[in-house]
Amino acid sequence: MTETDKTATLTIDGKSIELPIYSPTAGPDVLDIRKLYGQAGVFTYDPGFTSTASCDSTITYIDGEEGVLLHRGYPIDQLAGTSHYLEVCFLLLYGYLPSAKELDEFESTITRHTMVHEQMINFFRGFRRDAHPMAIIVGVVGAMSAFYHDSTDINDPRQREVASHRLIAKMPTIAAMAYKYTIGQPFVYPRNDLDYASNFLRMCFAVPCEDYEVNPILARAMDRIFTLHADHEQNASTSTVRLASSSGANPFACIAAGVACLWGPAHGGANQACLEMLKEIGTPDRIPEFIARAKDKNDPFRLMGFGHRVYKNFDPRATVMKQSADEVLDLLGVEDNPVLATAKALEAAALADPYFADKKLFPNVDFYSGIILEAMGFPTSMFTPIFALSRTVGWISQWKEQLSDPAHKIGRPRQLYQGETERNYVDIEDR
Ligand code: SDX
Repeated sequence: MTETDKTATLTIDGKSIELPIYSPTAGPDVLDIRKLYGQAGVFTYDPGFTSTASCDSTITYIDGEEGVLLHRGYPIDQLAGTSHYLEVCFLLLYGYLPSAKELDEFESTITRHTMVHEQMINFFRGFRRDAHPMAIIVGVVGAMSAFYHDSTDINDPRQREVASHRLIAKMPTIAAMAYKYTIGQPFVYPRNDLDYASNFLRMCFAVPCEDYEVNPILARAMDRIFTLHADHEQNASTSTVRLASSSGANPFACIAAGVACLWGPAHGGANQACLEMLKEIGTPDRIPEFIARAKDKNDPFRLMGFGHRVYKNFDPRATVMKQSADEVLDLLGVEDNPVLATAKALEAAALADPYFADKKLFPNVDFYSGIILEAMGFPTSMFTPIFALSRTVGWISQWKEQLSDPAHKIGRPRQLYQGETERNYVDIEDR
């Protein structure tokens, strides 16, 4: 933490204390309240952490008002436009763009870790065939700590490195296996002669009965989806990984916790929920009905794929994702896809509606990623697994950063207690 001579004065019941203020390299100043309870005997109250910095980090920066997303300082549109996912993984993990030699070594290492322990197949067979792929992935990722004991010691930098590589390499294999298992098709092994995105598409869509050629435009779009979902500051699932890691849990358990949190429809589950909503709307003429429901305070319905906790003008990832959506749909000749027609009409209607404009509700990354994945032939149940495999590098990078901070301690938020004060037990006959 940087030193500072800036302070804020807080006066409570006539007693004043000085709280340090730190200035970041980008973004708002932060007020250091670590000594607040000791000095003033009060807690802060911020249930959704909307005004609370949980850590200091050098990995990703978001400016919600300006629609800025930087990974180690590089804008997301440049990375998504000219880099590729494994290079972005290197950048997030190590903090700089690799030399050609470093990138080649890194990609070779990841490629050689893509297979999973053969005995894990038995673990898959324990699930019902109609299990949601996310339920399988949560279980299998957690179970990795039972298969890869030689990379669970978080105090050993080499084991942390191996666990990081294993997770990045094996998540596509696990996600593809979860998909194949739920559709009753045989698992497809990864190939070392394919790039990361092509390998994933082949593991999902190849069958033993015929050769499978990956379409390079789809592989490029898949890689771009991975890149656009790689990391995103201290979002709910990343904060979950950090909190799990603060207890000293092994990396596989921490990432399994992140997968579980991402599954929620308000977070990573939004892309599946968005496509299901578009299919429920069905045709553009029903859009007014759903917009009215989204605006109705008494109706819990929300437009999935719209709005964001941080971005309050536009999600820069959605801008890039929208370009990819047009490319993929043109390639597949599905530009007249009814779901897409509804999506485009909903986007136009919502953006023209003062309710959404005033509340800064616009299509987020999930709105367009779902359309691309649907066009590629993925079932909606595979949308969040793809988000999870993309975000694994972000979770792992943030996990490594937290462990490398010698000052980090177990996370233990306090509360505003509103329950009963002490009272005596009453025997059942006296109740
Ligand atoms: C992701 O944090 C991250 O970085 C997440 C993520 C990442 O990369 O990790 O970017 C990925 O999770 C993207 C968001 C995906 N979720 C959805 O698309 C689900 C639909 N969106 C909403 O659930 C909501 O917008 C959130 C959860 C995303 C953000 O919620 P906020 O900013 O806390 O907003 P809010 O719930 O406080 O709502 C503010 C107002 C409310 O109205 P009022 O009470 O002020 O009158 O906006 C309304 C809400 O009712 N509102 C919506 C809405 N989202 C908010 N109304 C209709 N439809 C919506 N989608």
